[in-house]
Amino acid sequence: MTQPPTLAVDWEGRYRAPGTPGWQRPGINPALTAWRAAGELKPCRILIPGAGRSAEPGVLAGEGFAVTVVDAALSAVAFQAPRVAPAGQALAADLFDWAPEQPFDAIYDQTCLCAIDPGLWDAYAHRLHGWLRPGGRLFVLFMQTGRDGGPPFHCDLGRMRALFAAPDWQWPATLPAPVPHSPGQEEQPAVLLRN
Ligand SMILES: C[S@@+](CC[C@H](N)C(=O)[O-])C[C@H]1O[C@@H](n2cnc3c(N)ncnc32)[C@H](O)[C@@H]1O
Repeated sequence: MTQPPTLAVDWEGRYRAPGTPGWQRPGINPALTAWRAAGELKPCRILIPGAGRSAEPGVLAGEGFAVTVVDAALSAVAFQAPRVAPAGQALAADLFDWAPEQPFDAIYDQTCLCAIDPGLWDAYAHRLHGWLRPGGRLFVLFMQTGRDGGPPFHCDLGRMRALFAAPDWQWPATLPAPVPHSPGQEEQPAVLLRN
């Protein structure tokens, strides 16, 4: 069966390949730890799109968040379901063909945006906006690869500012330092306010 362009990458196949996927952090993202420690991100209804088999949804669920994860890869959803229960849920869906029953207080995007073809970024940013309530916040890691092609696709900060622009979004006055990812790659954390 032909996959839609939004699911052109066989993520399930990548999860079923031997070994740990290259995008998967061994621990918790230090940017998320910093946001939690600073009280910037407090327990709330949070969406984690393209959560994969990352540890962050389970950690947030354990800290009192109602976590919804949405991922097209069935094995990722099966991994996350018991970790976000009972307050949360893990849903198998194409993010471009899914809508929540009510908008979220926060979204945590870690290596989901950069996994999506840049030709779909306008549509994805529009969806992120729609998934958040007014005044909700997007906690995002902009992947910095410094090279063409992907995934992961380089999230040039000038392009990100144009993608997440006023009047829909507000940026903070300054951004924290990037956090290391895999060799040659780092992530630029940002917290964007949804107007
Ligand atoms: C690079 S992985 C990142 C996984 C996880 N965020 C992490 O940090 O380990 C990208 C994830 O997004 C999911 N994904 C990509 N495109 C998607 C789409 N259109 N709908 C739903 N999930 C998608 C993939 O299945 C995969 O789990």
